[in-house]
Amino acid sequence: MPYTQRDYLKDYDNAAVEDKYPLVDSWIKSEERLPFFKQLRKERPVLVTPECTLVSLFPDVRDMLSMPKIFTVDLYKPKMSVTGPDDGYLMAHDDNALHYREKSLMQGMLNRDDLPQIRKLVANAAKNILAEANGNIEVVNQYCRMVPVTLVQEYFGLDGVDPKELIDWSYWNQYDAFNNQPFDMLTDEQSQHITDEQNRVSDKLGAYITSLIIRKLVIIKATRGLRAMLSYPKRILLSLLGKAMQSQPDDVVTRMLKTAFAKDINFPLLRLGTNAGGLLIGAIETTSQATSQVIEYFLKHPTLLKKAKQAASFENRAEFDALVWEALRFVPIRPDIFRKASTDYTIAKGTQHETEIKKGTIVRLLTQSAMFDPYAFDKPEEFNPNRNWYHNFNFGFGSHECLGKYIGMVMIPEMIRQVILKAELKDNGPIDYENGPFPEKYNLSWR
Ligand code: HEM
Repeated sequence: MPYTQRDYLKDYDNAAVEDKYPLVDSWIKSEERLPFFKQLRKERPVLVTPECTLVSLFPDVRDMLSMPKIFTVDLYKPKMSVTGPDDGYLMAHDDNALHYREKSLMQGMLNRDDLPQIRKLVANAAKNILAEANGNIEVVNQYCRMVPVTLVQEYFGLDGVDPKELIDWSYWNQYDAFNNQPFDMLTDEQSQHITDEQNRVSDKLGAYITSLIIRKLVIIKATRGLRAMLSYPKRILLSLLGKAMQSQPDDVVTRMLKTAFAKDINFPLLRLGTNAGGLLIGAIETTSQATSQVIEYFLKHPTLLKKAKQAASFENRAEFDALVWEALRFVPIRPDIFRKASTDYTIAKGTQHETEIKKGTIVRLLTQSAMFDPYAFDKPEEFNPNRNWYHNFNFGFGSHECLGKYIGMVMIPEMIRQVILKAELKDNGPIDYENGPFPEKYNLSWR
């Protein structure tokens, strides 16, 4: 319903205290989201609810994401095994030595010069799956989750394991960290179920990463040993050279294991393993959601679909990619980034909506609303692929900006492009979320 027909804030103000946040949450989870955000931006840019505080304007969202020690990722800590400054995953650390060190090391390992190769790898994996599907596919499970699995196995190097397991491990970790939070309105039973599943998969993932590291180290050591024996006669060398060692793969885990980090850098095998697991967790469900939602968005907008089809055939991919990123502004994988205030802090100082955020408050920074704020987006309701990329929040912003951003920026559009290229592409109804946060089923067909 358009904003002019519904006064969300009036309904909110008239609701009983216990109904206020559920009302807000129901709007955010429905088609009402954008009109509700529009009214917030205009009339109450900071909405203090009994559960959490919503922040809707671009400058405030950007400002708060730039102050990680004040608006912290503490809510990630129990989900990512962080008990102190030196353990758990980097994402749950705010601007400390571990985060700074490990993020930069991992950015180097995910060498941006690899991107053309990654795009080829993704295109091939995508083409193969679509060719086998023969004009009919349940695209979430068979494609949107499977193509990133190929990337995880072949580029990241988390190989030798059933793709279903990789999907399961990524799924429950994402679910628990991002959709099992105090403001998610889950019953205790639902919340416990997600935590139990996360614990189950974490044990399996931990055991797998340990065996992966041992397996890869053996190959590295054996290859190095053989290289050192290069002075031996070729005949002896060849007999020693097992098939697995003939060509040592270049994948990210192997790269990390081959790199000699100075002791002072404090990046032992345990930290390396944690970061290898993080690559998997970050890659699958996020990509799957973005890909399926943009395909659906294109299919819902025939004029746009036509444009996308045209651009999909261009040699230069930039035009097609820009359509994808603009579509994702309308259907982002989530509308917010959430943080917890570590201290009392007054935001938007000197404005009419200046607000003191009390220590301990959960803030939902409405990144999608910020991407519709005319402060940074000219005529924000229009679909315009030629926007300033620096204002886009789809991969986060500030010190926690997505580690996989540049990979996602080639993987997602290429996956969508391969689908859009299919003639007479149709869906059999909308994406089915099965009442959860992620796309679970979406049937497509083509000629
Ligand atoms: C190759 C795949 C991916 C990997 C390895 C990955 C990994 C990560 C990591 C490690 C972080 C935390 C960075 C930090 O705290 O410093 C992060 C943050 C983030 N990622 Fe990704 N990611 C991937 C794909 C995606 C995709 C496809 C999306 C959405 C389209 C996405 C959205 C985000 C967002 C919004 C954040 C910021 C979260 C926050 O600020 O709390 N990621 N990602």
